[in-house]
Amino acid sequence: MNILFMGPPGAGKGTQAERIVENFGVPHISTGDAFRLAMKQGTPLGLKAKEYVDQGLLVPDEITNGIVKERLEQDDCKKGFLLDGFPRTLQQAEALDGMLKELGRSIDHVINLKVDRGLLLARLTGRRICKACGSTYHVLFNPPKQEGVCDKCGGELYQRSDDTEEKVGTRLDEYISKTAPLLSYYGEKGLLREVDGEKEIDAVTADIESYLRGSL
Ligand code: AP5
Ligand code: ZN
Repeated sequence: MNILFMGPPGAGKGTQAERIVENFGVPHISTGDAFRLAMKQGTPLGLKAKEYVDQGLLVPDEITNGIVKERLEQDDCKKGFLLDGFPRTLQQAEALDGMLKELGRSIDHVINLKVDRGLLLARLTGRRICKACGSTYHVLFNPPKQEGVCDKCGGELYQRSDDTEEKVGTRLDEYISKTAPLLSYYGEKGLLREVDGEKEIDAVTADIESYLRGSL
């Protein structure tokens, strides 16, 4: 199954992706994670991406498209994939169509997680991530059993550098001007499914799963 997750920053794409990839046995492709890894390793890609990510701005399309193309060509994506945070511009969506056409594949479902802007700021500024395994928590909404420590692997939790109030504002503006228009792009293709992302985490997972299993 080939799935896209859309939604503003903090809508819960990463949280839900962690669960869906486990239950559906497909690889998770997150452009945000790919950039953060390259930034941590200090590769040329990471240095370039840092200029944008640290400001809350979108990384240029040609850089982002290249990463996704390379990843989709790998063998494990033949069984399906979950793309999280890509595409984010019309140009990226068109590039993705081209990549999939070349590979003889197509998108099955586009899930849009809907969350009100007011809630997104609270979600992002309270988010904590495991340094070791990447699991996501929230200080209030999804706290780890022990403060600052990952339940799954005991790793240390950290806060993303772009999760400050100021950068979240820029990221939301980028989303509204460049990414939100994609909803009509996929709506017109009949692929879009809106999911209420304000429910409890388990309830959102259940809604996504029922949709993917065709029972909604
Ligand atoms: P990226 O990493 O993709 O960030 P994002 O889209 O801003 O999304 P987030 O990871 O912030 O949010 P999420 O929806 O995954 O929410 P989460 O599940 O963590 O991108 C980062 C940067 O990389 C971009 O700004 C850009 O610079 C660059 N980039 C990436 N892709 C790009 C592209 N295609 N083109 C150009 N540039 C690109 O949840 C958030 C918090 O809420 C967590 O604490 C979680 O525990 C909590 N939570 C989740 N669900 C619930 C719930 N149902 N109830 C209560 N709390 C919840
Ligand atoms: Zn961990």
